[in-house]
Amino acid sequence: MARTITLIPGDGIGPEVTAAVVRILAATGFTPTWESFPAGAEAVTTHGTTLPQELLDSVIRNKTALKGPITTPIGKGFTSVNVGLRKALDLYANLRPVWNLPSVPSRYTGVDLVIVRENTEDLYADLEHVVVPGVVESLKIITAAASERIAEFAFEHARRHSRTRVTVVHKANIMKLGDGLFLESARKVAARYPDITFDDRIVDAACMHLVMHPEKLDVLLLPNLYGDIVSDLCAGLVGGLGVVPAANLGTGGVGVFEAVHGTAPDIAGQNVANPMALLLSAVLMLQHLKEDARAARIMTALRDVLASGHVTRDLGGMASTSSFADALCRVIEQG
Ligand code: NAI
Repeated sequence: MARTITLIPGDGIGPEVTAAVVRILAATGFTPTWESFPAGAEAVTTHGTTLPQELLDSVIRNKTALKGPITTPIGKGFTSVNVGLRKALDLYANLRPVWNLPSVPSRYTGVDLVIVRENTEDLYADLEHVVVPGVVESLKIITAAASERIAEFAFEHARRHSRTRVTVVHKANIMKLGDGLFLESARKVAARYPDITFDDRIVDAACMHLVMHPEKLDVLLLPNLYGDIVSDLCAGLVGGLGVVPAANLGTGGVGVFEAVHGTAPDIAGQNVANPMALLLSAVLMLQHLKEDARAARIMTALRDVLASGHVTRDLGGMASTSSFADALCRVIEQG
């Protein structure tokens, strides 16, 4: 069946890593029609808005998008395009599998966990105002509906992927109402999944546990802000932001697949960025589209190329973005 997928190359290193990934996908015979759109600052110039309506229409129509990183100005300027996209498409679940890859240097071995982050509310509701000069109020929104929906997603994911434990992470000892509601909602959903062990950890203790015994954790369920912070911590357990994928998933099978790293302005345009995080996100996308054989071919080829030491600078190698992609394409085509 002819497939169309929305492509958002993004900015900074985005266009370089997306071009590499599109080429690697093509080596497996996966050649959908790509509908490409600018977003962020570039879209303001071309479309007068950071998030053009035709981009949103394209994702709604195609149900699938592959997305590069987009700059978010700090402290001023336009609001995050990433957050806007999640809100506009109700991409309520952020999924980040975190595992050790062979030949990727890291302080730990045996890490194999999944982060499920609520993606639509909490302090990301973007409700802030100046009460009086010098005093700012930022509102943390937690609802039972969103908390139960994400808990259900976590348990369903655990069941489908033969995982045995879901740990909800919170600060309900201090935020008894907001985080208390998130915890209670998770407990309520857990009761419907007696085959999966359920426990909870306070976020600070969870962070300590993660840096001491990450191999003991399985599925972590977190509200938006803790999820954002803890997921980068977890990326650090297995080699950093350059090697960790992410999926933003909504209802009706809509998925936006993206790398967790940013636009890396310090190395943009130099053909040295590591395309692996976006490639692993594309592997999640293939699995989501039930293209498991192609996903497996990419993973096998990736292990081979990593083992050969032909890796980019961030992993201690000399490969450029394009030569790393060339090596992967060669292995896939020979395999
Ligand atoms: P960053 O992830 O862009 O860079 C942090 C460090 O990691 C830099 O030294 C960079 O060179 C390196 N790095 C990142 N990705 C790499 C890759 N694929 N290969 C090799 N090295 C890589 O984070 P930073 O500097 O905090 O953010 C830059 C911009 O990116 C900001 O405007 C931020 O808002 C945006 N951003 C966008 C995201 C998205 O669109 N999903 C996520 C995170 C940040």
